[in-house]
Amino acid sequence: MNTSKMAQRAALSAAILVSAQASLAEEPIKVGMMLPATGTYAKLGNNIKNGFKLYVDEQGGTLGGRQIEYVEVDSEANPAKAIDNVNKLIKQHEVDVLLGSVHSGVALAMAKRAKESGTVLIVPNAGADNVTGPLCAPNIFRTSFSNWQPGYATGQAMAEDGHKTAVAITWKYGAGKEMLDGFKESFEEAGGTVVKELYVPFPNVEFQALLTQIAAAKPDAVFAFFAGGGAVKFVKDYAAAGLKDAIPLYGTGFLTDGTLEAQGADAEGVKTALHYADALGTPRDDAFREAYAQAYGEQPDVYSVQAYDAAQILGIGLEATGGDIANKETFTAAIRNATVDSPRGEFTMSSSHNPVQDFYLREVTDGVNKVVRIASKSLSDPGRGCRMK
Ligand code: PHB
Repeated sequence: MNTSKMAQRAALSAAILVSAQASLAEEPIKVGMMLPATGTYAKLGNNIKNGFKLYVDEQGGTLGGRQIEYVEVDSEANPAKAIDNVNKLIKQHEVDVLLGSVHSGVALAMAKRAKESGTVLIVPNAGADNVTGPLCAPNIFRTSFSNWQPGYATGQAMAEDGHKTAVAITWKYGAGKEMLDGFKESFEEAGGTVVKELYVPFPNVEFQALLTQIAAAKPDAVFAFFAGGGAVKFVKDYAAAGLKDAIPLYGTGFLTDGTLEAQGADAEGVKTALHYADALGTPRDDAFREAYAQAYGEQPDVYSVQAYDAAQILGIGLEATGGDIANKETFTAAIRNATVDSPRGEFTMSSSHNPVQDFYLREVTDGVNKVVRIASKSLSDPGRGCRMK
């Protein structure tokens, strides 16, 4: 080939590349939101949607030069419907990104399908340990926590507060059981004993008989996992049963996050461990809280933060690839190597794509989750069963 032909060819392929990039830029990135819009987790789903959209709106509606478009499906926090729902998003709507879910059982189904299909999945809440364990994959990321993490941090805090015996109570499904296991692991490592484990079917809120059992067992403290509407009811029932001043109530932070207005005085003094708190007072968090309150007329919670950061990591991946989400290696590497500037404080991703982050011990004081101390510094999920390095 002579030099002028080579130059012609080069010019032609450059033109094709430019036009491919131009048409890529015209196509929106479709984000399939699979979140609960009904039931005990409805408010959590709403705040995740708000947090994600806030970050995208702050970037002018684009990430990495691509417009962001949303498709929404009500997950109903129902694992039995999860495979159908996620297939609808992948096959019918051909989404580029899956965002979800709140409920661990739903997230497991999403992770399974994401692993098979290669669709990018960002989990903005559900803590199912297996998502960043045996189901881990280069295209699956979590910006929240593994269930083990807040459980483990709460056990550390309870032992450090001097408690030797505890009753644990939770909804009987994956998230509750895994948080309880994390709690038991650190509490027992520190010499504590879990004298009783009590389970309530999800999403039931009939606590009376179990509260009677707690009163009879007289432990030093109680560990609980409930969230959303169920957490509101549990904290109120605990106080009404006369236990609030008799046996200190602890839990993973979901017990008092996004719920304090409804719980009122009954939540005062409840201590929980979580990767976020209400009054961190950092410039980053203050700016986030102000923007969120302006946009939605209410304060954000941990769910809003996790989703804001889900949009941030999508932005990091899209920025690195010039908006080409099909460039999987570059997309994944950019997120793996990132330090995410979260309102909660900076975090990085573990090798299984779960946040390595600080857990705060918080105490409800004058209606806010106030930091008492760091319960666990840079806590990393062990990623048991994940083969990615
Ligand atoms: C979960 O099912 O993983 C889950 C649900 C609600 C929470 C935390 C974890 O607040």
